[in-house]
Amino acid sequence: MTPAPSKTPIIATVTSGKGGVGKTFVTVNLATTLAAQGRKVLVVDCDLGLANVDIMLGIYPQLTLKDVLFGQARAEDVIIPVKGGFDLLPACSGVREMAQLLYEKIQIVKNVVLSQEGYDVILLDTGAGIAETVLQFNLLAPRNIVVLNRELTSITDAYAMMKVLHQVFGRDTFSLIANAVADEREGQKIFHHVDGIARRFLGFSLDYLGPICRDEAVPRSILRQEPLVLADPGSKTVACFDRIAGAVSRWGKPLTKGLAVPTPEQVPRGVLH
Ligand SMILES: Nc1ncnc2c1ncn2[C@@H]1O[C@H](COP(=O)(O)OP(=O)(O)OP(=O)(O)O)[C@@H](O)[C@H]1O
Ligand SMILES: [Mg+2]
Repeated sequence: MTPAPSKTPIIATVTSGKGGVGKTFVTVNLATTLAAQGRKVLVVDCDLGLANVDIMLGIYPQLTLKDVLFGQARAEDVIIPVKGGFDLLPACSGVREMAQLLYEKIQIVKNVVLSQEGYDVILLDTGAGIAETVLQFNLLAPRNIVVLNRELTSITDAYAMMKVLHQVFGRDTFSLIANAVADEREGQKIFHHVDGIARRFLGFSLDYLGPICRDEAVPRSILRQEPLVLADPGSKTVACFDRIAGAVSRWGKPLTKGLAVPTPEQVPRGVLH
């Protein structure tokens, strides 16, 4: 009998221009929501120097992506099921050589991500900004979810990151999440502001996945090391995550654009060298 064709997963980074805007919180709770909706989800912690996904889930993995990159373990041995109902490929914290990975090592991460079978969605939680490693991970994934909040610096830094990815690599598919907003209206306002700038100066429009409310239950859930949507199903963020997870699922077939990580020769000097 011919084996059933393996599914092609939706692969997306959860990224931002400015740090501390809620990427890891969004990754963990979006993955938990997608899993609750019946999707098989893998989260890869790509914040390589300062991994946080394991901390948010209260786990202390023995093996990490570092062991895969240095040939000491196979990805299958490192991936673990976690309490959000999804699988995690954890990274490690405080290892300097992991913060500035060489191109060859990025290729290994890319191959590990692309060779995972059986997942509907693979989310890559990146570090913030336009460091070389972060740009590479954003190029690896066909979809980039950009998290930002009401702070002016988070808006300008998100724009700067999209500008670099567009001007240097031609990327023009960004999906925004306005995090920690008071209400739907504030989220819309932030989105329209950035979308207007992107249209005017970059020549393309942005996709909006929706808002996530500011909720004092968020820091409490992080302290308890539980996904908020599980720990506090009454939180007003639950509906926000349901909506975003629905939109992500509707992406269906992934874009082919962006799957190729450019070689060092294709990248202008001073950008990734
Ligand atoms: N919707 C929200 N409501 C209230 N607080 C929030 C919300 N989202 C995030 N936070 C707060 O912001 C803090 C930073 O979140 P998180 O660690 O997910 O950010 P990050 O973008 O991953 O940071 P880094 O750039 O360091 O990786 C959390 O500790 C949390 O308390
Ligand atoms: Mg983080």
